[in-house]
Amino acid sequence: MYNYQLHQQLQKALKEKEAGINIAGKDNLFYTRFVANLASIYDLYTELYGGHKKAAQDFEQLIHVIATAYIERSTLLKNRDAVKQQQGNWYLSNQIAGMSLYVDRFCGNLENLAGKLDYFEKLGVNFLHLMPIFESPEGESDGGYAVSDFRTVDKRFGNITDMQALQQKMGEAGMYLMIDIVLNHTSHHHEWAKKAKAGDTYYQDFFYMFNDRYLPDQFEKTMPEIFPEAAPGSFTYNAETGKWVMTVFHNYQWDLNYTNPDVFLAMLGNIFFYANLGIDILRIDAPAFIWKQLGTTCQNLPQAHTILRLIRQCVQVATPGMALLGEAIVAPKEIINYFGTGAYTAKECDFAYNATHMALQWDGLASGNIRIMMAAQHEILRKPFGASWITYTRCHDDIGLGYDDYMIENTGANAYEHRRFLKDYYSGAYPASFATGALFSVNPKTQDARISGSLASLCGLEHALKKASGYETDLAIKRILMMQAQSFFLGGVPMIFYGDEAGYTNDYSYLADPGKSYDNRWMHRPVINWEKNKQTEVPGTIEHRIFSSTQKLLAIRKKLDVIADKSNITWLTPHNIHVAGYLRAWDDKRVYCLFNFSAQLQYLTWYAFKEHGMNPAQLFDYWDEKTYSTGQDHEYFILQPYGFYILEPK
Ligand code: GLC
Repeated sequence: MYNYQLHQQLQKALKEKEAGINIAGKDNLFYTRFVANLASIYDLYTELYGGHKKAAQDFEQLIHVIATAYIERSTLLKNRDAVKQQQGNWYLSNQIAGMSLYVDRFCGNLENLAGKLDYFEKLGVNFLHLMPIFESPEGESDGGYAVSDFRTVDKRFGNITDMQALQQKMGEAGMYLMIDIVLNHTSHHHEWAKKAKAGDTYYQDFFYMFNDRYLPDQFEKTMPEIFPEAAPGSFTYNAETGKWVMTVFHNYQWDLNYTNPDVFLAMLGNIFFYANLGIDILRIDAPAFIWKQLGTTCQNLPQAHTILRLIRQCVQVATPGMALLGEAIVAPKEIINYFGTGAYTAKECDFAYNATHMALQWDGLASGNIRIMMAAQHEILRKPFGASWITYTRCHDDIGLGYDDYMIENTGANAYEHRRFLKDYYSGAYPASFATGALFSVNPKTQDARISGSLASLCGLEHALKKASGYETDLAIKRILMMQAQSFFLGGVPMIFYGDEAGYTNDYSYLADPGKSYDNRWMHRPVINWEKNKQTEVPGTIEHRIFSSTQKLLAIRKKLDVIADKSNITWLTPHNIHVAGYLRAWDDKRVYCLFNFSAQLQYLTWYAFKEHGMNPAQLFDYWDEKTYSTGQDHEYFILQPYGFYILEPK
């Protein structure tokens, strides 16, 4: 809501302090955005910091940080912002398909990556998520998620000029780029942590540091452990200061204290630094954890959402072409809240990971039925129009079976037993399983555990190769493609994890590296062997079969506008509990997507296609390029084992 005093404050600040901003001329659009968002920025800021002694001073500073970000933004990026704004929700498009990769493990460094753009183009990928590339101490890195300098590219990857060159080349090729802001914590080697260790109380206030165990003990009563095996507890003793520091993740990752407005401002500055590198989507790492409060789980607190909303409002003013992805891997009903609620519906994060559906796919594959997948969709469908998912089957992290017990129980199963079955199935403890994986972060107190393993190994390829069975290999490839296809067409931007396009199985070399051996997620983070990848061009090889099929799936996706995420998905009634089907519909376009999660032929009555007001005479399958004539209601459409179908009524 308009606020005259604030408007005056803004005008004064821009005129007096921000040299070169012409609010009536070339920068009028920026100024308009600022005026429009100012009251919300102020309200959100006051909600968090209104009672803080530095509130007024830091609010002035906030205006300055936003203005500086705009001033420092290149004309090229400002023009790109304008194009995106004209397109509206540019990121909902079915033309975007992504890949997530570790630069060093993929191809060595940033310079080499700039030389690999044709590989992505060939596959149909035009959006890259670079796993963290900023300075992070070797051996205490958490794959780069323990950042010791937010603005210096780690020399393993190159330097900032290489990064800019890559971004420019990608921009010219019409590609999009995503990197992370690790908002929740820094490495204990970060300058702020080093100063805190040296006794600087200003920087000690950047973290949660306590003189004794009294408050840490209170906190730990209600805080779940994230890495109970490798890093039990949520606090670490720091010998230099004799204090206990909050370390929710590893003991070398110090949690930032966002109750201090100086921390917020410093991290907002880093966000803008990335925005001005030309980042299209910023992945906000672990946002669920950014606010802590005694007596709570310290996850998903309302203030964490307020911080995200505040960030978004600021980004919209200075660098509006950058969308935000909240990496909230939490319970289904909590994930949805990261899109915003109430007046902020669809105004918090533009993206979240569809982590619920990802886990449900693995549930479906092990069980051979989709009962639980269906029992959970009502939560996922609450996503508001205008926001979207990153859809995926695998990523660099473990698979958490994060859906609720009641969803399992609604299908008649016992939640504890069912989860145990899944953990056994994917970790080698279930004799009939095709999967090769391992349990990650087993909590001996609760028996909770997540699952590690690559897409190919979890789908049976490692097992099939060991047995040298062509039949099993075929089945494994079918599973891989069916899983990928289901997430590619679901709605949202599909994100392939590097290596999965060429069928990489688990890599156990991490066990020999002491900086990695404590974390079995490294088994599914391969080092790419480009000799092996050359096989993607040799018909008949496993690599080629998976690569060319992935390529085809992405090409089909780009052809079908109805796949763009307009929140236009309807699940088909599961007439057959082994077959998951959804309808994507927009205007007069319809596409049925069907997936057989079982190893047997499945039968679906033609009636299933008629439930949504249509009576198609023929269906064209984009995958097999076949046309089917529909039969009588009681006759069947037959699905092959692990088969999938992308069917358009003709
Ligand atoms: C995110 C990352 C994960 C990392 C954690 C701590 O969940 O995806 O890899 O360990 O944050 O930064």
